Amino acid sequence: MATSTTQAAIAVAGLEKSYKDVHVLRGVDFEVERGSIFALLGSNGAGKTTIVNILSTLLKHDGGAAAVNGFDVASAAGDVRESISLTGQFAAVDEILTGRENLVLVARLRHLPNPGEIADGLLERFSLTEAGGRRTSTYSGGMRRRLDIAMSLIGNPPVIFLDEPTTGLDPEARLEVWGAVKDLAGAGTTVMLTTQTLDEAEHLADRIAILHEGRIIVNGTLAELKALLPPAKVEYVEKQPTLEDVYFAIVGGGAGGAGKGAATNREELS
Ligand SMILES: Nc1ncnc2c1ncn2[C@@H]1O[C@H](COP(=O)(O)OP(=O)(O)OP(=O)(O)O)[C@@H](O)[C@H]1O
Ligand SMILES: [Mg+2]
Repeated sequence: MATSTTQAAIAVAGLEKSYKDVHVLRGVDFEVERGSIFALLGSNGAGKTTIVNILSTLLKHDGGAAAVNGFDVASAAGDVRESISLTGQFAAVDEILTGRENLVLVARLRHLPNPGEIADGLLERFSLTEAGGRRTSTYSGGMRRRLDIAMSLIGNPPVIFLDEPTTGLDPEARLEVWGAVKDLAGAGTTVMLTTQTLDEAEHLADRIAILHEGRIIVNGTLAELKALLPPAKVEYVEKQPTLEDVYFAIVGGGAGGAGKGAATNREELS
């Protein structure tokens, strides 16, 4: 593919999108370096899925520009599609098929020579070997999510989008997904994920951006984000601000009252 290695894996400039009179994206700018993990944080309805859908060519933007793997999402949508995989917010596994059959199907669709071998390798990697022969309608939420991510890795796309990859997973399954995402980036894949979970961004991402009221209001490494707050007062123990403190300081609301409320809402939603 005609891409240069110095180019950003994802480049977004002045991106605009409205749904009728709802102006969701109001000039979104960011870049994602190749082989890095980029987390897009934002509350419900901030526009995270909208951005992911534009970048994966499922949705057209109204203004600005976006390129993935060096290809413009509007004028070279086919090249973008060949460069990416998307794991959507809602699992895309076929319930009538077994886990292994789902994987074989995707490998066939991607015209790969050895679908069975690929399926078995991924089942092993995502701890699904035993469940591989069962219909996915019998899988737990975490198992489906792992299968979903495994399916997105077939064909080794250079850029993968994960829209809320761990929503609804228990802590153990979350750790498994985090491990898989880190392995991917370690092997050179660029990963862009969205999350509402601040500790997910904190644990996984090389860079974190916060989408708020249609714009990226902060974009930096965890250390840079933490440096935005004045250092915690040294009393008897030194306390570093958590990403959650930074988040609430920037978007408003208190880490105490509002933070707690938000956590409760998240639990109710999942
Ligand atoms: N097809 C659509 N038609 C009209 N409005 C839409 C459509 N899709 C999204 N929206 C609106 O655009 C806004 C952004 O939605 P989006 O799904 O991108 O947010 P999100 O950040 O992914 O939220 P969540 O965390 O709940 O997944 C919301 O106000 C939503 O209601
Ligand atoms: Mg969403």
